[in-house]
Amino acid sequence: MRIKANQKIFFCTNTKMAKNLQQSVEYLQELEILTRDLKDKIDLVVIPPYTALYTVQKLAHGYITIGAQNVCRSEETENTGEISAGMLRELEIPIVMIGHSERRRSFGETDEDIALKAKCLTEKGMSVLLGIGETLKQKENGESEEIINHQIKTALKNVETENYGLIRVLYEPAWAIGTAGKVADPDYVGRIHTAIRESLIQIMGEELGNVVPILYGGSVNEQNALSIFRQPNVDGLGIGRSAWNAAMFNKIIRNVLAFNEKYWEGEKNYAENIK
Ligand code: 13P
Repeated sequence: MRIKANQKIFFCTNTKMAKNLQQSVEYLQELEILTRDLKDKIDLVVIPPYTALYTVQKLAHGYITIGAQNVCRSEETENTGEISAGMLRELEIPIVMIGHSERRRSFGETDEDIALKAKCLTEKGMSVLLGIGETLKQKENGESEEIINHQIKTALKNVETENYGLIRVLYEPAWAIGTAGKVADPDYVGRIHTAIRESLIQIMGEELGNVVPILYGGSVNEQNALSIFRQPNVDGLGIGRSAWNAAMFNKIIRNVLAFNEKYWEGEKNYAENIK
């Protein structure tokens, strides 16, 4: 366990292309009503598709942060079909996800592209939700830690030291995401999160590297959320499908909060039963 008793827990959901404009608005409104009493206990980020971004951002009441799913790697005009960090900042979007494995896999995004995106965002003072994760083949070859380390180092190489506080890491192993995903073994999640922490400390130094939040994502659901959350260096959860129903997302959030509270109240027996 890493999160302490009174520390905010991070939750985010990337709704990919699962919700159109109307559905995105309804989802935000429902989630706000369900979770507003938790605003001092959680950092909640909803990441809708671009077509819903402006409307959802205008409707949000502040405590749910609205993020974008991607950004152009350049601020230059000649990038038809892309959206720049400056354009997102104009919409007052404070955080942008980059490096999601679906973008790496289906759109050929490289670590170098991701480094340029991280630079554009942090130069504008925007937070970065940095998606990293190995493929199944890399995992089977025993290369996970090496790949993760390389992804983090490359992504952060153009980020100024004074902007390290804008970084949040989202570890989502490519093989554990979406409908084809396998479910990750919690011990494995703990091992990789600890390797991520070590990489961050190597790059940023002890003090800064220790405070960057690291979220886990990939087939998180009501059944496995607690056993993943309790692993070392897990600061929160990134949830896709299981969070797209606001009531289910609310349930998972409350289960994790209750678990954390009981754990720090010293009810270790309760915690030990969550495997
Ligand atoms: P699932 O939770 O549906 O596997 O999606 C995870 C994800 O890709 C979130 O960014």
